[in-house]
Amino acid sequence: MADGSRGPKTVAALLLAAGSGERLGAGVPKAFAELAGVSLLVRSLRTLRSSLSVGPIVIVVPEGWLSEAGRVTADSGIAGEVGIVKGGSTRRDSVARGLEALHSHHDAILCHDAARPLASVDLVDRVTERLWASRRGPAGAAEGADGVVPIVPSRDTIKRVRGGWVVETIPREELGLVQTPQAFRAEALREAHARAPSGEAASDDAVLLEAAGFRVAVVDGERSNLKVTTEEDLRMAEHILGTGGGILWSSRS
Ligand code: C5P
Repeated sequence: MADGSRGPKTVAALLLAAGSGERLGAGVPKAFAELAGVSLLVRSLRTLRSSLSVGPIVIVVPEGWLSEAGRVTADSGIAGEVGIVKGGSTRRDSVARGLEALHSHHDAILCHDAARPLASVDLVDRVTERLWASRRGPAGAAEGADGVVPIVPSRDTIKRVRGGWVVETIPREELGLVQTPQAFRAEALREAHARAPSGEAASDDAVLLEAAGFRVAVVDGERSNLKVTTEEDLRMAEHILGTGGGILWSSRS
């Protein structure tokens, strides 16, 4: 975990839960929808809290849901420092608000989508550990990472489609499907957010680091770590839970 230059690194986490979840149609914001009786928010929170590498956690929720978030968090009995703040109209705005609420003295910040309730604790540890690992590149130089994202290789053939017609088949060998949790050196994450042109959308944080010239490394993701967007995803997640899918579906199996 530590890179040897000084003591153990400190890691804070942002749990992004401020999406409306219209496509899920649960009647509540997506993070408050339940998967086998436990909300996506609480499931993700438990995973982050179960990782020994994670310190303070800031949950970012939709306007009007702060007290409900406080209630479910208290009911879940999750210990340690957990803050709750109001999110923005885009994911990027929500991350920015979460960053404002975090003290700046952490070495790393983990960003995790509450919409991925099946991420494992092992995955949380893997992305943070990779952040501090000093790898040797082809030329023998140390290759420290500014950010780390989990990736699962694409098994499907991917085509670019316009207006109902295939215009291109994209070689899939170098393509990966990106997940959260993602880990970042805190300074790099803050700088990448500050440097990105205002209004520029970002479906994850790594894209802002890439645009700012920071180095983003990958670790193995988990096929069971699906993103809940629709009712069908929720059913799939229930199925994975019911079949012990974390092992069955691992990209490493
Ligand atoms: O909408 P989507 O599922 O892509 O959002 C990914 C994650 O970002 C979700 O966990 C969602 O709650 C969060 N989000 C947010 N603030 C927004 C939009 C999305 O925290 N304005």
